[in-house]
Amino acid sequence: MDRILVTGGAGFIGSNFVHHVIAHTDARVTVLDKMTYAASRESLDGLPDDRVELVVGDVADAMLVDELVRDHDVVVHYAAESHNDNSLDDPSPFVQTNLIGTFSLLEAVRKHDTRFHHISTDEVYGDLELDDPKRFTEDTPYNPSSPYSSTKAGSDLLVRAWVRSFGVRATISNCSNNYGPWQHIEKFIPRQITNVLVGIRPKLYGTGANVRDWIHADDHSSAVLTILEKGRIGETYLIGADGEKSNLDVVRLILELMGRPADDFDHVNDRAGHDLRYAIESGKLRSELGWRPTYGDFESGLAATIDWYRGHEDWWRSHKEATEAGYAAKGQ
Ligand code: NAD
Ligand code: DAU
Repeated sequence: MDRILVTGGAGFIGSNFVHHVIAHTDARVTVLDKMTYAASRESLDGLPDDRVELVVGDVADAMLVDELVRDHDVVVHYAAESHNDNSLDDPSPFVQTNLIGTFSLLEAVRKHDTRFHHISTDEVYGDLELDDPKRFTEDTPYNPSSPYSSTKAGSDLLVRAWVRSFGVRATISNCSNNYGPWQHIEKFIPRQITNVLVGIRPKLYGTGANVRDWIHADDHSSAVLTILEKGRIGETYLIGADGEKSNLDVVRLILELMGRPADDFDHVNDRAGHDLRYAIESGKLRSELGWRPTYGDFESGLAATIDWYRGHEDWWRSHKEATEAGYAAKGQ
């Protein structure tokens, strides 16, 4: 694992993984990123020039992908259009990047017999009832709801088919909702933190009863590195940290940690087709590969994330107005 190609490595979770790899291995990393609105060069600041290179390009560009894959031992595929709300406004880039992009990478790793790890989401399994004692496992049937999650589900199925039909050496991980530094302010937690910082009331879709299963992005990175080092080819591993919380509870906690009254938020229009609850059972990853999350306490992880957004206003401030205008146009 000397040379790792990380697609989408200038995004929220991909950049976190690049920092993790540099800190915990001797590998050199090439980031392939299209630098969409969701990417940020600053998220790669402070990394050693002799170990990290950024190539600006599209994962759906088959020629570029072939050249890059040829020169690497491992590909870790984070690049995606990642936001459900955007996929409801315009699904086309989701189909292009998440499906065609994954296809072009699979063809290249097939040709060069390169180890491939595919980053995916718990949303491929659809949603659960609030009182369902079951959580998602590797055996849960696929049942995605949104254009985003259906393209991620499709990309997972492509990977599975390339493993079985062509012997591609791939693994897949499906992770729950991530939080932490460098997450785009369109997403729930950073949107509400930055709302409070600029004097806008947090916005809760619908009743706020929807549940998400939160994991710190660092824990996601350590899980992916563990799978690369010890995972069995052809296997899927679910990544989660037992962090189920309702959106209402998360908003109230953000307000409390930021010194605001607990009811200082607005209910706004719900998301179309809004998934009710996600919950991950990550026993396979823990018992088979020995992985454990290190951010056991959501409240302290959230407090650190709030501090981070406070300290990085220069990074997010210029996007805030346009992001909120987009939401306001939809009554959100
Ligand atoms: P993000 O939107 O923050 O980053 C995505 C990155 O991919 C950006 O840097 C973007 O420029 C890049 N990209 C987009 N299209 C590209 C293309 N055609 N070619 C090359 N690069 C392209 O997303 P994220 O939240 O960091 O998610 C990363 C991955 O993790 C995605 O595959 C997502 O499905 C998965 N995931 C996310 C979460 C979460 O909670 N955010 C949870 C589980 C899985
Ligand atoms: O579960 C993993 C998924 O988590 C990833 O695959 C996706 O890439 C990632 O974006 C995330 O999807 P969600 O749709 O769960 O995340 P989002 O941050 O958009 O919303 C989290 C919850 O908060 C969801 O129930 C919708 C709600 N929400 C969101 C926003 C932006 C609000 O109540 N208010 C808001 O302003």
